[in-house]
Amino acid sequence: MYYSDEIIEEVRVKNDIVDVISGYVRLQKKGSSYFGLCPFHNEKSPSFSVSRQKQMYYCFGCGAGGNVFTFLMEYENYSFQEALKVLADRAGVTLPETEYSEEARKRAGLKATLLEINKLAAKYYYAQLRQPQGAAGLRYLKDRQLSDDMLRAFGLGYSNKYSDDLYKYLKGKGYKDDLLVKAGLISYDERQGVYDKFWNRVMFPIMDTNNRVVGFGGRVLGDAKPKYLNSPETDIFDKSRNLYGLNRARRSKKPYFLLCEGYMDVISLHQAGFDNAVASLGTALTNGHASLIKRYVNEVYLTYDSDDAGTRAALRALPILRDVGITARIIRMEPYKDPDEFIKNMGAEAFEERIGKARNGFLYSLEVLRKDFDMNTPEGKTDFMKETARRLSGFTEEIERNNYIEAVAKEYHTGYEELKKLVVKMAVETGMAKPASRPKSGRSKDKGKEDGIQKSQKILLTWLIEDEGIFNQISKYIVPEDFSEGICRTVAGLLYEQYEKHDVNPAKIMNYFTDEEEHREVAGLFHTKIRELSTPKEREKALRETVIRVKNHSIEQAGKNWDAADIEGMQKLMKAKSDLQNLRKLHISVN
Ligand code: CTP
Ligand code: MN
Repeated sequence: MYYSDEIIEEVRVKNDIVDVISGYVRLQKKGSSYFGLCPFHNEKSPSFSVSRQKQMYYCFGCGAGGNVFTFLMEYENYSFQEALKVLADRAGVTLPETEYSEEARKRAGLKATLLEINKLAAKYYYAQLRQPQGAAGLRYLKDRQLSDDMLRAFGLGYSNKYSDDLYKYLKGKGYKDDLLVKAGLISYDERQGVYDKFWNRVMFPIMDTNNRVVGFGGRVLGDAKPKYLNSPETDIFDKSRNLYGLNRARRSKKPYFLLCEGYMDVISLHQAGFDNAVASLGTALTNGHASLIKRYVNEVYLTYDSDDAGTRAALRALPILRDVGITARIIRMEPYKDPDEFIKNMGAEAFEERIGKARNGFLYSLEVLRKDFDMNTPEGKTDFMKETARRLSGFTEEIERNNYIEAVAKEYHTGYEELKKLVVKMAVETGMAKPASRPKSGRSKDKGKEDGIQKSQKILLTWLIEDEGIFNQISKYIVPEDFSEGICRTVAGLLYEQYEKHDVNPAKIMNYFTDEEEHREVAGLFHTKIRELSTPKEREKALRETVIRVKNHSIEQAGKNWDAADIEGMQKLMKAKSDLQNLRKLHISVN
């Protein structure tokens, strides 16, 4: 069911965001915005802002953001349709029975269809597990001591022994082959034709934070290989942005997550009462995972397998978590391999004890490092301390660094002052060695530049949306096409349109996007500021530089794509370049 943009907008306008969010979060007025404790991550001082003027919310701590629809989708786990219904009810708007907006349909089309297909498949597998033909699968899961509650909660299922019955089932529902292949459930080759990707496996549906099935993992019932088969990445399944169990863990009251490696670990932990367990599913932890986690908690307990591979994976995860500001601790499970085995043998209480004894991630990494040195010889110990000092110098915040220096000095029986001196020395040496470690490939350098441009574009959009006076002066020089393709350009285009119609309305722009992730990004675009700039002069300078940076980048891009035969294009480019010169002299008045 798709509703027209008009009706969606009517519902939105009739639900003031401050009123709606006040029902969930205690808000206090500060300046032109309202502030409160963010409901999407743990915090002690309020960084969650709601603006009546923009009709948006945004958390300066975790980056959650959106309009009134997004809020309900994130907070209540509603789909867009559900949020729309609830808000329509709240405002007394009657939703029409059927109304289609072609545009909305196209936009949401493929993703929605893939979600539908996955949901049907999950239901199919779920039902199979409870049929006579699923007996082997059910026995397998029972043997692994999973309760009925957990089977239900995680929606476990079974793909039976025929290699094309899911295919036939979904075909029967009217889906074309190419869609089924796009959903990752069906494979095709010339010899065998089409066949189910999964068969004779117990099935673990992978859900996103809104409990929508985005993919599957399937485990063999015995020891055959591969042990697990997973859905490929699809339009709705991005492995580096999904965590198994997050749909449940996000509701946990605990202020930290237990991060483990596998499906069974997550389910075992939840069954034992640890409702905050998630897994990165065999792939290495990515930045995407880390920032996803950071939305909900600031602390993670890593409970990776206790073998070498697990230890290495945990060590690699530490800096990634650190980079987004998450403190990590490591839980040891020796003599058992993983949380699932540990809990089966030792029980939940013993696991709770291990949580209590978890090692600080950095100190743990030193413990591992230590094994590479002969600590019984002075040379060995010195080399170890040097490497340790080098790593300590990586803590850029002084208090934190000193705390760690103190902890390390105590643990390795070294004087605090000596170690501190060594850290400074190593910092200088590493600092001097830096030029050599600069990114060698042009690509990573471009990447940093790319991020800088993104930031400038966001800052400019925030300015444009907040101040019509600025828009009027800038729009002569900057057009939507100057923004990078994708969300930035789309949003700029919509904003310019609204200014033309004298109907500036940021929250309405959001109606254009269907996905929560996109809402979050759009909200970010309207809430990006450079550090507090106090004088108008400073602000003017910053704004001019931002405009020039954005324009310059746009010209560079156009130059790269310019086709030598395109004379008109060249003339445009020349004109843009001379405009740029004028921009440098531009006086923009800001308040
Ligand atoms: N994995 C995978 N493909 C494989 C092996 C593993 O995708 N061939 C992923 C799965 O998500 C798995 C995780 O890596 O859950 C951890 O792998 P492993 O420790 O081997 O499996 P367990 O989770 O312990 O599975 P089980 O207890 O069922 O043996
Ligand atoms: Mn296991």
